[in-house]
Amino acid sequence: MRICAAENYEDMCRKAAERIAALVVTEPDCVLGLATGSTPVGIYDLLSRWCAGGHVSFSRVSTVNLDEYLGLEGTHPQSYRYYMEHNLFRNVDICPGHTHLPDGTASDLASECLRYDELIASLGGIRLLLLGLGHNGHIGFNEPGDVFVPGTHVVELEESTVRANSRLFDSADEVPRRAVTMGMRDIMGARSVLLAVSGAGKAEAVARAFSGPVTPRVPASILQLHPDVTLVADKAALSLLTAGREDLFK
Ligand code: GLP
Repeated sequence: MRICAAENYEDMCRKAAERIAALVVTEPDCVLGLATGSTPVGIYDLLSRWCAGGHVSFSRVSTVNLDEYLGLEGTHPQSYRYYMEHNLFRNVDICPGHTHLPDGTASDLASECLRYDELIASLGGIRLLLLGLGHNGHIGFNEPGDVFVPGTHVVELEESTVRANSRLFDSADEVPRRAVTMGMRDIMGARSVLLAVSGAGKAEAVARAFSGPVTPRVPASILQLHPDVTLVADKAALSLLTAGREDLFK
């Protein structure tokens, strides 16, 4: 794992966006795996501005998102489809048909999970996967559990995740209790992973993910086994991981 240390949130976003833009410029038809949440908002904003300025084009890029809430239509303001449209897709020159998220409204969820796995395989897998990190160590919506689940699957969200995400809803009661998420096979199968983290509130999760054992109790810890992970994080998020560990920056 490489650490790319940033001063603050803005710096972290710039460093992450630069890596994504550099890939898109050099491999214009790449497949990007994308995350939602507050963390990537500034990253998507920069990519949108660079695209508007003619510095990068997404016209040949395909995207696959990590996850989606169950039961929310893409027009629902809290759905991840809506988030992606507003934060990135409608601001750049990407082909709408090249943007993919799991369908959280599918009547047959088992088939939907299989379809999503097959879709990712048919695209040739993910070239670069942008991940965020949950306070409990989740990636996508892979919550802490007894096993790492390989394929796309439906999850029950932890109460802490529902609480954390309720800030974006009118009340915690409105947060869906279930979601569909990409599993660890596609996450670990991504050629490169960019894990973006910001803020002191995530410092413990970062430390548990990278200085503790690899365990499904801390889903992001599986990234210790990935050959090409870059942790792009600000100093606050890195504070517990890097104390006395200068070796990590080598
Ligand atoms: C959400 C998403 C994740 C995201 C994480 C962190 O629940 N499912 O993909 O990375 O939580 O979100 P935030 O960046 O808002 O802290």
